[in-house]
Amino acid sequence: MLSDNFSFGYFCRAGSEIIADLLATNIPWKYGGLPADRWHKQFKERFLYPTTDILLWMQQSPNFNHKPLEIAQKLAQQPGPLAYGAKSVATSSGQQALLFLPADVFDPDDPWSVHFRQVLAERDYRGQAVCELGPGSGITAIEILQSSNPPKSLTLVEIDEHVLKVAELNIRLNCGKLIDRLGIQVEFIPGDAVAILSQLADAGRKFQTICGCLPHVPLPQAELPRGQNIAHGYNATVYHGFERWGLGLLEAVQQQAKKTLAEQG
Ligand SMILES: C[S@@+](CC[C@H](N)C(=O)[O-])C[C@H]1O[C@@H](n2cnc3c(N)ncnc32)[C@H](O)[C@@H]1O
Repeated sequence: MLSDNFSFGYFCRAGSEIIADLLATNIPWKYGGLPADRWHKQFKERFLYPTTDILLWMQQSPNFNHKPLEIAQKLAQQPGPLAYGAKSVATSSGQQALLFLPADVFDPDDPWSVHFRQVLAERDYRGQAVCELGPGSGITAIEILQSSNPPKSLTLVEIDEHVLKVAELNIRLNCGKLIDRLGIQVEFIPGDAVAILSQLADAGRKFQTICGCLPHVPLPQAELPRGQNIAHGYNATVYHGFERWGLGLLEAVQQQAKKTLAEQG
Protein backbone atom coordinates (compact mmCIF):
# COMPACT_ATOMS: atom_id res chain seq x y z
CA MET A 1 0.00 0.00 0.00
CA LEU A 2 1.39 3.42 -0.93
CA SER A 3 1.81 5.93 1.91
CA ASP A 4 0.43 9.48 1.62
CA ASN A 5 3.97 10.77 1.03
CA PHE A 6 4.25 8.60 -2.02
CA SER A 7 2.19 11.09 -3.98
CA PHE A 8 2.23 12.48 -7.50
CA GLY A 9 4.73 15.12 -6.30
CA TYR A 10 7.08 12.36 -5.18
CA PHE A 11 6.83 10.70 -8.58
CA CYS A 12 7.62 14.02 -10.26
CA ARG A 13 10.67 14.64 -8.08
CA ALA A 14 11.93 11.10 -8.56
CA GLY A 15 11.26 11.52 -12.30
CA SER A 16 13.36 14.71 -12.43
CA GLU A 17 16.27 12.92 -10.79
CA ILE A 18 16.07 10.02 -13.19
CA ILE A 19 15.87 12.30 -16.24
CA ALA A 20 18.79 14.46 -15.04
CA ASP A 21 20.78 11.30 -14.42
CA LEU A 22 19.93 9.93 -17.86
CA LEU A 23 20.95 13.18 -19.53
CA ALA A 24 24.22 13.38 -17.57
CA THR A 25 25.29 9.79 -18.10
CA ASN A 26 23.56 8.56 -21.26
CA ILE A 27 24.37 11.32 -23.70
CA PRO A 28 28.06 10.76 -24.28
CA TRP A 29 30.34 13.77 -24.55
CA LYS A 30 32.20 11.96 -27.32
CA TYR A 31 30.27 10.23 -30.09
CA GLY A 32 31.53 9.02 -33.44
CA GLY A 33 35.02 10.10 -32.35
CA LEU A 34 33.91 13.72 -32.00
CA PRO A 35 33.45 15.75 -28.79
CA ALA A 36 29.91 17.17 -28.48
CA ASP A 37 30.97 20.75 -29.30
CA ARG A 38 32.15 19.48 -32.73
CA TRP A 39 29.27 17.11 -33.50
CA HIS A 40 27.86 16.64 -37.00
CA LYS A 41 24.23 17.66 -37.44
CA GLN A 42 23.06 14.01 -37.38
CA PHE A 43 24.54 13.49 -33.88
CA LYS A 44 22.82 16.65 -32.68
CA GLU A 45 19.55 15.47 -34.26
CA ARG A 46 19.90 12.18 -32.46
CA PHE A 47 20.86 13.35 -28.97
CA LEU A 48 20.23 17.06 -28.47
CA TYR A 49 17.18 18.10 -30.51
CA PRO A 50 14.65 15.57 -29.11
CA THR A 51 15.81 16.35 -25.55
CA THR A 52 15.05 20.05 -26.04
CA ASP A 53 11.63 19.23 -27.55
CA ILE A 54 10.73 17.08 -24.54
CA LEU A 55 11.95 19.66 -22.00
CA LEU A 56 10.05 22.43 -23.80
CA TRP A 57 6.91 20.30 -23.82
CA MET A 58 7.32 19.56 -20.09
CA GLN A 59 7.86 23.26 -19.36
CA GLN A 60 4.68 24.25 -21.22
CA SER A 61 2.51 21.46 -19.87
CA PRO A 62 0.79 22.52 -16.60
CA ASN A 63 1.20 19.05 -15.06
CA PHE A 64 4.98 19.03 -15.48
CA ASN A 65 5.69 22.69 -14.85
CA HIS A 66 8.30 22.27 -12.10
CA LYS A 67 10.23 19.39 -13.61
CA PRO A 68 12.59 21.11 -16.08
CA LEU A 69 13.64 23.47 -13.27
CA GLU A 70 14.61 20.54 -11.05
CA ILE A 71 16.30 18.75 -13.94
CA ALA A 72 18.34 21.88 -14.72
CA GLN A 73 19.27 22.29 -11.03
CA LYS A 74 20.56 18.73 -10.87
CA LEU A 75 22.37 18.96 -14.20
CA ALA A 76 24.05 22.20 -13.13
CA GLN A 77 25.63 20.34 -10.20
CA GLN A 78 27.16 17.64 -12.40
CA PRO A 79 30.85 17.91 -13.26
CA GLY A 80 31.28 18.64 -16.97
CA PRO A 81 31.63 18.68 -19.78
CA LEU A 82 28.13 17.41 -20.57
CA ALA A 83 26.72 17.16 -24.08
CA TYR A 84 23.40 18.26 -22.56
CA GLY A 85 24.26 20.26 -19.47
CA ALA A 86 22.93 23.16 -17.45
CA LYS A 87 24.51 26.14 -15.76
CA SER A 88 23.65 28.68 -13.09
CA VAL A 89 24.68 32.12 -14.35
CA ALA A 90 24.97 35.35 -12.35
CA THR A 91 23.00 38.13 -14.03
CA SER A 92 23.54 41.88 -13.78
CA SER A 93 20.57 42.30 -11.43
CA GLY A 94 22.28 40.02 -8.90
CA GLN A 95 19.94 37.11 -9.61
CA GLN A 96 20.93 33.63 -10.73
CA ALA A 97 19.61 32.41 -14.09
CA LEU A 98 19.41 28.67 -14.53
CA LEU A 99 20.07 27.68 -18.15
CA PHE A 100 19.99 24.46 -20.09
CA LEU A 101 23.16 24.44 -22.13
CA PRO A 102 23.47 21.76 -24.80
CA ALA A 103 26.88 21.74 -26.48
CA ASP A 104 25.70 23.61 -29.59
CA VAL A 105 24.69 26.73 -27.63
CA PHE A 106 26.97 29.72 -27.00
CA ASP A 107 28.36 29.84 -23.45
CA PRO A 108 26.67 32.71 -21.52
CA ASP A 109 29.85 33.11 -19.42
CA ASP A 110 31.92 33.87 -22.51
CA PRO A 111 33.39 37.40 -22.13
CA TRP A 112 31.57 38.50 -25.36
CA SER A 113 28.26 37.49 -23.85
CA VAL A 114 28.96 38.92 -20.39
CA HIS A 115 29.94 42.36 -21.71
CA PHE A 116 27.05 42.44 -24.20
CA ARG A 117 24.36 41.59 -21.67
CA GLN A 118 25.74 43.78 -18.86
CA VAL A 119 25.53 46.84 -21.11
CA LEU A 120 22.02 45.92 -22.28
CA ALA A 121 20.72 45.17 -18.76
CA GLU A 122 21.28 48.82 -17.75
CA ARG A 123 19.06 50.32 -20.44
CA ASP A 124 15.52 51.61 -20.06
CA TYR A 125 13.08 49.61 -22.24
CA ARG A 126 9.83 51.02 -20.87
CA GLY A 127 7.11 50.84 -23.54
CA GLN A 128 9.56 49.62 -26.15
CA ALA A 129 9.38 46.94 -28.82
CA VAL A 130 12.80 45.27 -28.66
CA CYS A 131 14.38 42.88 -31.15
CA GLU A 132 17.40 40.70 -30.37
CA LEU A 133 19.27 39.03 -33.22
CA GLY A 134 20.97 35.73 -32.33
CA PRO A 135 19.76 35.16 -28.73
CA GLY A 136 21.83 31.97 -28.24
CA SER A 137 21.08 30.52 -24.78
CA GLY A 138 18.56 33.32 -24.16
CA ILE A 139 20.67 34.92 -21.42
CA THR A 140 20.59 38.44 -22.91
CA ALA A 141 16.83 38.24 -23.38
CA ILE A 142 16.52 37.11 -19.74
CA GLU A 143 18.60 40.12 -18.62
CA ILE A 144 16.42 42.46 -20.70
CA LEU A 145 13.20 40.95 -19.34
CA GLN A 146 14.46 41.08 -15.73
CA SER A 147 15.79 44.63 -16.03
CA SER A 148 14.17 47.37 -13.93
CA ASN A 149 12.31 48.73 -16.97
CA PRO A 150 11.42 45.77 -19.20
CA PRO A 151 10.00 46.21 -22.73
CA LYS A 152 6.40 45.72 -23.82
CA SER A 153 7.50 43.20 -26.45
CA LEU A 154 10.60 41.18 -27.30
CA THR A 155 11.22 39.60 -30.71
CA LEU A 156 13.99 37.00 -30.94
CA VAL A 157 15.50 36.02 -34.30
CA GLU A 158 17.90 33.07 -34.37
CA ILE A 159 19.35 31.29 -37.38
CA ASP A 160 19.75 27.94 -35.62
CA GLU A 161 16.30 26.46 -34.96
CA HIS A 162 17.52 24.23 -32.16
CA VAL A 163 19.34 27.10 -30.42
CA LEU A 164 16.13 29.16 -30.66
CA LYS A 165 14.18 26.37 -28.92
CA VAL A 166 16.80 26.28 -26.14
CA ALA A 167 16.42 30.08 -25.78
CA GLU A 168 12.65 29.64 -25.51
CA LEU A 169 13.06 26.89 -22.92
CA ASN A 170 15.44 29.01 -20.82
CA ILE A 171 13.32 32.16 -21.10
CA ARG A 172 10.15 30.30 -20.06
CA LEU A 173 12.08 28.63 -17.22
CA ASN A 174 13.46 31.90 -15.81
CA CYS A 175 10.94 34.55 -16.87
CA GLY A 176 7.68 32.68 -17.55
CA LYS A 177 5.86 34.14 -14.55
CA LEU A 178 7.24 37.65 -15.14
CA ILE A 179 6.14 37.58 -18.79
CA ASP A 180 2.62 36.50 -17.81
CA ARG A 181 2.36 39.02 -14.96
CA LEU A 182 3.53 42.00 -17.05
CA GLY A 183 1.83 40.79 -20.25
CA ILE A 184 5.05 41.08 -22.27
CA GLN A 185 4.71 39.78 -25.84
CA VAL A 186 7.63 37.46 -26.62
CA GLU A 187 7.99 35.98 -30.10
CA PHE A 188 10.54 33.48 -31.40
CA ILE A 189 11.37 33.67 -35.10
CA PRO A 190 13.76 31.14 -36.70
CA GLY A 191 15.84 32.42 -39.61
CA ASP A 192 18.66 34.64 -40.80
CA ALA A 193 18.66 38.10 -39.23
CA VAL A 194 19.00 39.85 -42.60
CA ALA A 195 16.12 37.96 -44.23
CA ILE A 196 13.83 38.22 -41.20
CA LEU A 197 14.48 41.95 -40.67
CA SER A 198 13.62 42.51 -44.32
CA GLN A 199 10.32 40.58 -43.86
CA LEU A 200 9.54 42.51 -40.67
CA ALA A 201 10.21 45.80 -42.50
CA ASP A 202 7.84 44.75 -45.31
CA ALA A 203 5.21 43.99 -42.68
CA GLY A 204 5.62 47.53 -41.30
CA ARG A 205 7.09 46.42 -37.97
CA LYS A 206 9.13 48.95 -35.95
CA PHE A 207 11.46 48.47 -32.98
CA GLN A 208 12.85 51.06 -30.58
CA THR A 209 15.85 48.83 -29.84
CA ILE A 210 17.53 46.27 -32.10
CA CYS A 211 20.52 44.47 -30.61
CA GLY A 212 22.63 41.44 -31.43
CA CYS A 213 25.96 39.82 -30.66
CA LEU A 214 26.48 38.16 -34.02
CA PRO A 215 29.67 36.51 -35.25
CA HIS A 216 31.93 38.99 -36.96
CA VAL A 217 34.89 36.80 -37.82
CA PRO A 218 35.99 37.44 -41.40
CA LEU A 219 37.07 33.84 -42.00
CA PRO A 220 35.46 30.85 -43.68
CA GLN A 221 34.12 28.27 -41.22
CA ALA A 222 36.93 25.78 -41.94
CA GLU A 223 39.58 28.31 -40.89
CA LEU A 224 37.97 29.32 -37.61
CA PRO A 225 39.70 28.28 -34.40
CA ARG A 226 38.24 25.25 -32.62
CA GLY A 227 34.93 26.02 -30.97
CA GLN A 228 34.40 29.39 -32.67
CA ASN A 229 31.62 28.09 -34.89
CA ILE A 230 29.84 25.68 -32.55
CA ALA A 231 26.63 27.67 -32.30
CA HIS A 232 25.97 27.71 -36.00
CA GLY A 233 23.96 24.77 -37.22
CA TYR A 234 23.08 26.44 -40.51
CA ASN A 235 24.03 25.84 -44.09
CA ALA A 236 27.44 27.51 -44.22
CA THR A 237 27.43 27.58 -48.02
CA VAL A 238 24.78 30.33 -47.84
CA TYR A 239 27.28 32.50 -45.95
CA HIS A 240 30.32 31.94 -48.10
CA GLY A 241 32.91 34.61 -48.52
CA PHE A 242 33.50 37.91 -46.82
CA GLU A 243 30.33 39.50 -48.16
CA ARG A 244 27.77 37.62 -46.05
CA TRP A 245 29.89 35.93 -43.39
CA GLY A 246 31.75 38.18 -40.98
CA LEU A 247 31.79 41.95 -41.37
CA GLY A 248 29.64 41.58 -44.50
CA LEU A 249 26.92 40.00 -42.37
CA LEU A 250 27.03 42.89 -39.89
CA GLU A 251 26.78 45.44 -42.68
CA ALA A 252 23.78 43.62 -44.22
CA VAL A 253 22.10 43.41 -40.79
CA GLN A 254 22.60 47.13 -40.20
CA GLN A 255 21.12 48.03 -43.59
CA GLN A 256 17.98 45.99 -42.89
CA ALA A 257 17.81 47.11 -39.25
CA LYS A 258 17.57 50.78 -40.34
CA LYS A 259 14.28 49.95 -42.10
CA THR A 260 12.72 48.53 -38.94
CA LEU A 261 14.15 51.01 -36.43
CA ALA A 262 11.56 53.43 -35.02
CA GLU A 263 12.24 57.17 -35.29
CA GLN A 264 13.50 57.49 -31.73
CA GLY A 265 15.14 54.04 -31.88
C1 LIG B 1 27.89 34.84 -30.18
S1 LIG B 1 26.30 34.05 -30.00
C2 LIG B 1 25.53 35.21 -28.88
C3 LIG B 1 24.41 34.61 -28.09
C4 LIG B 1 23.87 35.48 -26.95
N1 LIG B 1 23.41 36.78 -27.40
C5 LIG B 1 24.91 35.64 -25.89
O1 LIG B 1 25.41 36.76 -25.74
O2 LIG B 1 25.24 34.66 -25.20
C6 LIG B 1 25.60 34.47 -31.60
C7 LIG B 1 24.27 33.81 -31.90
O3 LIG B 1 23.82 34.34 -33.16
C8 LIG B 1 23.30 33.30 -33.97
N2 LIG B 1 23.47 33.74 -35.36
C9 LIG B 1 24.59 33.68 -36.13
N3 LIG B 1 24.38 34.21 -37.34
C10 LIG B 1 23.09 34.61 -37.36
C11 LIG B 1 22.27 35.23 -38.35
N4 LIG B 1 22.74 35.53 -39.56
N5 LIG B 1 20.97 35.50 -38.03
C12 LIG B 1 20.47 35.18 -36.80
N6 LIG B 1 21.20 34.59 -35.83
C13 LIG B 1 22.50 34.31 -36.09
C14 LIG B 1 24.13 32.08 -33.60
O4 LIG B 1 23.48 30.87 -33.93
C15 LIG B 1 24.33 32.30 -32.09
O5 LIG B 1 23.32 31.67 -31.34
